[in-house]
Formats: sequence, C-alpha cells, structure tokens
Amino acid sequence: MKETTSQEIQRVAVIGTGLMGHGIAQAFAVKGYEVNLLSRNKDSLKKAVQEIEWSLSKFVKKGTTSNGEAEAALSRIMTTTSYGEAVGDVDLALESVSESMELKRRVFSKIDEYAPSHAIIATNTSTLSVTEMGKATGRSERTVGMHWFIPPQLTQLIEVIRGKDTSNETLNAIMDVSRKLGKTPILCKKDARGFIVSRILVAVFNEAFWTYSRGEASMEEIDASVRYIGGFPMGWFELVDFVGVDVEYDVSKILHEAHGERYRPRLELTEPLVKEKRLGRKTGMGFYDWSKGRPSIPSELKGMYDVERSWAVATNEAAWMVLEDVAEPESIDLGMKLGTGWPSGPCEYADNKGLDGMLHKLEEAYSRYPIELYKPCPLLKDYVAKGWTGKKAGKGFHKYI
Ligand SMILES: NC(=O)c1ccc[n+]([C@@H]2O[C@H](COP(=O)([O-])OP(=O)(O)OC[C@H]3O[C@@H](n4cnc5c(N)ncnc54)[C@H](O)[C@@H]3O)[C@@H](O)[C@H]2O)c1
Repeated sequence: MKETTSQEIQRVAVIGTGLMGHGIAQAFAVKGYEVNLLSRNKDSLKKAVQEIEWSLSKFVKKGTTSNGEAEAALSRIMTTTSYGEAVGDVDLALESVSESMELKRRVFSKIDEYAPSHAIIATNTSTLSVTEMGKATGRSERTVGMHWFIPPQLTQLIEVIRGKDTSNETLNAIMDVSRKLGKTPILCKKDARGFIVSRILVAVFNEAFWTYSRGEASMEEIDASVRYIGGFPMGWFELVDFVGVDVEYDVSKILHEAHGERYRPRLELTEPLVKEKRLGRKTGMGFYDWSKGRPSIPSELKGMYDVERSWAVATNEAAWMVLEDVAEPESIDLGMKLGTGWPSGPCEYADNKGLDGMLHKLEEAYSRYPIELYKPCPLLKDYVAKGWTGKKAGKGFHKYI
C-alpha cells in the first residue's frame, strides 16, 4: 500500500479532550486542518469547545489571530462521541487520552478498526512504548509518536518518536506536518523511555534531589542558583511542582526501570508529597506553597549550589543518548531550548565550556559520591581521549569549522 505523505494529510482526528487534546485540536484547526474531536461524552466535548473558544479569544486580543481566522478555525472542528464519525474519513488520528498502556492500546485498536487503511495513527504519550501501541493495530508501520508540549497552542516543540516498526514515510509525514503547524520537530530515533526532553529533565531533578538529601544545599538555595546563576527559567524543585510532583514521581520510576541505576530516583522526597496530595502548583502545595502564586525564591540564596553539576549531569545524559543512537546533539539542544526554555542546549553548553571540564566535573562528583548518576558515559571519555573537547578543538558534540 502507498504510504501517506504530509500533503495528503488534510483531515485529522484528535481522540481525548483533556489538558492536551483540546489544545492540539486547536493548533491543527488554526493551520487549516479539518479536525474531528472525539470524547466519551457530550459534556466534555462542550467543555473542550469552550476552552478552545476562550484560548482563541486570547490570541485575538493579543492581535496574533484575527476574528475571522478564529471563527474559521472553530468552524473546522467537528465534535463527536463516535469512532466511526471521528476517524472514518481522516488521514491522521492522534490519541491524547490518559497515560495508560491498556487504554491507549484499546484506543489504537478502535482507530485501526474505523480509519481508512492509509491513515497514520499517532500517540501523544509522554512515557509509554509507541511500538507496543502499534502492535494493537494491523498497521504498525503507520504508527508513530507525536509528543506535544504544554500548552500545545503555544509551545514550539514536538518530539517525533520512531517506533520499532514505524516506516520512514510515516516518520517524514509527521515531521513535515509538525513543520506545517509552525512547530519545530525533533526526531527521537528510538522508542526509548523518556524520549529526549523528559529524560534530561529527570536526570537534573535527580541530581538536585541527591544534593538536597546529602544536606549540601537547601531546596531554595539550589533553586536560587539554578535560576539566578544558571539562567534557567525555573529552579528544579519549582519545576517539579510546576509539572506535578505525581507526574515526576511516575516518570522517574519508569526511567529507573528502563535505564537502570543511573536513574535511581529519590522517592523518599517525592512519595510522601504524593501521598499527602501535595502535588505542586495544581493543588496549591508541593515542595513550595503555591497558594499565592509562584513561590518567591530570594536571589540572595544563590551560590550555595554548583549549577555546573546540573550541566554535567545533563551533558552526560546527552552523551548516553548519542551513544545509544536515540538522538542527534542538534535535536537534544533544540529540545531543551524550545521545550523547556533552557538558556542553552546541553551539547552546545558542554562544547563551549569544554568536554574535558565537564568530564572532570563528573569524575570529581563520582569519586566523592559514587552513584551511577555521576559515572561518566563512555562516549564522553572517548571524545575527550580523542581530543574532541568542544569548540576550542573544532569538534565535540558538534563540529566547528
Ligand atoms: N499534561 C502534559 O503536560 C502533557 C504533555 C505532553 C503529553 N502529555 C500526554 O498527553 C496525554 C493526555 O494527557 P493530558 O494531560 O491531556 O491528560 P488529561 O487527564 O487532562 O486528559 C485525558 C483525557 O483522556 C480522556 N479519556 C480517558 N479515557 C478515555 C477513553 N476511553 N476514550 C476517550 N477519552 C478518554 C479523559 O476524559 C480526558 O479528557 C497523556 O498521554 C499524557 O502523557 C501530557
């Protein structure tokens, strides 16, 4: 069967209308795609449309979208509770239902049953195996990961994930559609847990958790250093609160299981909060008190934490991804800058600072605290041994001519 190209993708189905689903439907509709939006009941569909209307009105107020464009986008969204109606005439169906393999496999299989045979089936999963979902269909070569970032209407980045069976044509079609949506796609070449961005984030969260547990610095001291010295948009504890302590807790366990000891999480810190429903921003309390808005972290507390250690751990994880052929350094850098607002990508940062210095930082930490998190990746050691120490040498993660 002839594979679907991005030009042929005109009608799209979005399954699931939660936090992500309605925003994704809006992002497609704004760019001219016809969208069928499916939810289990009429009430959640009504709520989703109201949320889309509200979001579009914000764009109109800001002047980035005209009234006419907003109305046209809304008119392109059809809502339904029936799979036959939702996917019967689409070229691409994207599921964004709750994060459960059993549920997602069921949804994939339903889409497979009703969608035309040429249609691509994509998942917005953050942590689950795209390959395993694909196996619930009779077209695993036309299944793929299309991982959006929150809020999908605004965030520039999309991670495109190749499942074991995903065809090149499917991958290219989704990379292309992402560009047509005005986004920057990065390719995750393997269906590896955490894909690119979450994997690096959880590594630096773990580093902060270990540092705090060893009594080296307080939570506020770590966050103040990360923000005011490192130039990151949020401190690590603040960011865990922002994404949800429960989300970090679940993802960190999945990464530990998938990638081993390097990802041993400090559940002693997060589990009690999850049990007490102190989940961060969404419940008003997490590591910090969010009841009066974003926590204030005094800049005077900066300097007690060595932010270079966050960079070293991020660099190390980037090296593992390159070694395992999960991602190219360019994708890793773009992912961290566009997906999380980092001031630099870890590969370009390490190249600028010198890979020898980064390696030294890791070795120093590893000899003081012999946990796998700090154990230098063989690729990093190899680069330094070859003299590929970054910008000054003309070659590191990137090439400099
Ligand atoms: N929230 C984020 O920051 C974020 C970012 C990227 C990706 N994701 C991923 O996106 C997906 C959705 O996450 P979310 O944050 O929107 O969750 P959410 O809880 O806001 O929404 C999940 C939606 O799934 C619906 N749903 C549950 N069972 C269903 C079924 N059987 N059929 C149809 N719909 C069903 C629910 O009604 C709900 O609307 C997850 O896979 C998540 O990992 C989330």
